Amino acid sequence: MITNTELEYKGDLYPSKIVSFEHDSDSISFYTNKSVILKVTVLRDSLIRFRFTTKGYFSKDFSYAIDKGHSHGYNFLEVTEEDDYYQIQTSKVKCKIQKADMRLCIYDLEENIILEDELGFHWEESYEYGGNIVKMSKASKEGECFYGLGDKATQLNLKGKRLENFATDQYAYQKDQEPLYKVVPFYIGLRNKKSYGIFFDNTFRTYFDFCHERRNVTSFWAEGGEMNYYFIYGPQMEDVVTTYTHLTGKPELPPLWALGYHQCKWSYYPESNLKEVAAKFRELKIPCDALYLDIDYMEGFRCFTWNKEYFPDPKRMVTELAEDGFKTVVIIDPGIKIDKGYSIYKEALEKDYFCKRADGPYMKGKVWPGECNFPDYTNPEVREWWAGLFKELISDIGVKGVWNDMNEPAVMEVPNKTFPMDVRHDYDGNPCSHRKAHNIYGTQMARATYHGVKRFAYPKRPFVITRSAYAGAQRYTSSWTGDNVATWEHLWIANIQVQRLSISGMGFTGSDIGGFAEQPSGELYARWIQLGVFHPFCRTHSSGDHGDQEPWAFDEEVIDITRKFVNLRYQLLPYLYTMFWQYIEKGIPMLKPLVYFDQDDIQTHYRNDEFIFGNQILVCPILEPNSLGRRMYIPRGEWYNYWTNEAVKGGKEIWVDTKFDEIPIFIKAGAIIPKYPVQQYVGELEFEELTLDLYYKHGQEKSEVYEDAQDGYDYKKGRYSFLSFKTTGKENELFIQLHKDGKFDTNYSKYKINLIGLPFKIQTIEIDNVEVAFDKNTLENENYLLVNKDFNALHFMGE
Ligand code: GLC
Repeated sequence: MITNTELEYKGDLYPSKIVSFEHDSDSISFYTNKSVILKVTVLRDSLIRFRFTTKGYFSKDFSYAIDKGHSHGYNFLEVTEEDDYYQIQTSKVKCKIQKADMRLCIYDLEENIILEDELGFHWEESYEYGGNIVKMSKASKEGECFYGLGDKATQLNLKGKRLENFATDQYAYQKDQEPLYKVVPFYIGLRNKKSYGIFFDNTFRTYFDFCHERRNVTSFWAEGGEMNYYFIYGPQMEDVVTTYTHLTGKPELPPLWALGYHQCKWSYYPESNLKEVAAKFRELKIPCDALYLDIDYMEGFRCFTWNKEYFPDPKRMVTELAEDGFKTVVIIDPGIKIDKGYSIYKEALEKDYFCKRADGPYMKGKVWPGECNFPDYTNPEVREWWAGLFKELISDIGVKGVWNDMNEPAVMEVPNKTFPMDVRHDYDGNPCSHRKAHNIYGTQMARATYHGVKRFAYPKRPFVITRSAYAGAQRYTSSWTGDNVATWEHLWIANIQVQRLSISGMGFTGSDIGGFAEQPSGELYARWIQLGVFHPFCRTHSSGDHGDQEPWAFDEEVIDITRKFVNLRYQLLPYLYTMFWQYIEKGIPMLKPLVYFDQDDIQTHYRNDEFIFGNQILVCPILEPNSLGRRMYIPRGEWYNYWTNEAVKGGKEIWVDTKFDEIPIFIKAGAIIPKYPVQQYVGELEFEELTLDLYYKHGQEKSEVYEDAQDGYDYKKGRYSFLSFKTTGKENELFIQLHKDGKFDTNYSKYKINLIGLPFKIQTIEIDNVEVAFDKNTLENENYLLVNKDFNALHFMGE
């Protein structure tokens, strides 16, 4: 019997001996005595690109994933030739390339192996399509761990898994089901406490095998295109993720309302139904910022049309909702109904904007409207046209956000659920088949949508959400995890998917809260909302064919829990916004799995459930019915139980009691957590003070608060307010130093500082070195201090 392994090697070709090399500024090319060339480009000291060709020359270099604005530059680069190998050294790593077979190995400067080729680059020629099936294998060490790869519905540590990247409409997917909607061919390896990353920038169908087929081998391969990957050195996971995110790009700040709570269903119609939903939120005092219109708002599912029977006057309706604080978001799918009386169809046909089959006819497939043609979003002219189509929706009607769905692209009633592979695409002037364009189709649609919404929303910020995405899509759009199911297992999956997407550069994401397919019990819905408010994108959505999924579809207790947790999210908006700012400024993921938080602690390497929200809040969802608490791992350091303010020392697994209306939440000691008052929607209230919850720590901790006008682009001109706090706790003393930056003056004039866990009784307070009289009663009973926001230093002394 032939084993898998033997099959994989059958027909494989390998590079031959390196015979010469050329060094040209940041690139070093290695030539073999056949046609293989390896081009190594040093982008930064810890970011190196490896590009192979088997043709004797390289094709045009083009990538949708790489952010054109990413900065290059290294401090040191030296290339040396030894008897058996070449060495490339930067200020962070050394890469040795064997002359005999082109295999390479990357070391840190202390000669520890970071990444080592097993067979290295090899390939199989594709007779049917031309080109190669390109393959890479790396030797893996015992104890090595793997993370990343986007939306995979499996355990966080990918060791032992084989995964496939091919954007797929995977309705009601299950745990471990492959492939899913998104394609992020980027993973993080953790070996001997050092992290590195690999980004395999290849849009064909790709596979990754993390010690699944062979225990000590990790491999990745693609059905076409180039072996073209980026190596990123840590050694901290934060270095890897921020470098990757820098390379593939960061989004702009979303409008703050987009971080509020969103309510969706397939579908709210007619207008009276949507208005009832809106009114009920306000009546029950559950904050909500956005309402969604799913496909039924359209006329026969024709994009950019309205069903005038259900929605006779969209502009009036959208305006009325806006007056009550609701932003309207509408769905737009890629399939354009084949209908001669439909102007968008006619225009696209006249301009020849639809994708074509290899032999000429337009690509035709069934989606919601029936037979459709599909714009080729990989053509810049088509994207420009598409962007222009948003004028009426955004400028005239006042819609605030657009939801792109079915853009894998999904096709109904066909076995592969998508286009046939012979469909042609422009690929921005690099014509190709669907084999190459499939995985980026959704991203190019979202990109065109983003440019349209941005153009017409200006000077406000756009909001776009997509289901399918390739690496780099985060520059244009938020996303959600597709058609999940109302099961406890899916709650577990959602928790992992959002963490994983977060460390894969695509942080602005969330799951359909409560589950899309099937009906959640009240308990499951409550547990889901308790997790969902800690996801950067927070939206309840359901398929609507099994009953309602608004909070009031459940009993009073669940309604109260929903309100309590959505309230908490609205209080934490300045904290969440600061996380977002750290993401767009520095590429720091908004959610951090425990392994990211403390990779040196091997207890974290296989944890799935607990995560850090931002930098200082540890969250652990309840994932089972009838729970009175759960076991969880508290990472090293000191923490406070958010509900009881009890101090806990980390570095151990503990049992945490919870009630139905709580999940385990811990705050890092020393943290200052900024809070707004509860509002029913962003901007509802003007308030006098910003609450700062300070959790005392013996030692130092830093906290940041970013604010701006909450919408618009003035922040790019310096009109933001950035607060950087340093807290230092000593025996009987607490210092708070505040450094301010930016030209935005917040509306409030005071901070209300809540002092939590203070181990001494305050006797004296100095503000900017001046002792102030204070109302002892206030401090002693309430433990808070109201102080003008213009201070630089606060000093509490006591005994
Ligand atoms: C797809 C989407 C879902 C949407 C439905 C109807 O299944 O994933 O969110 O509600 O289509 O548009």
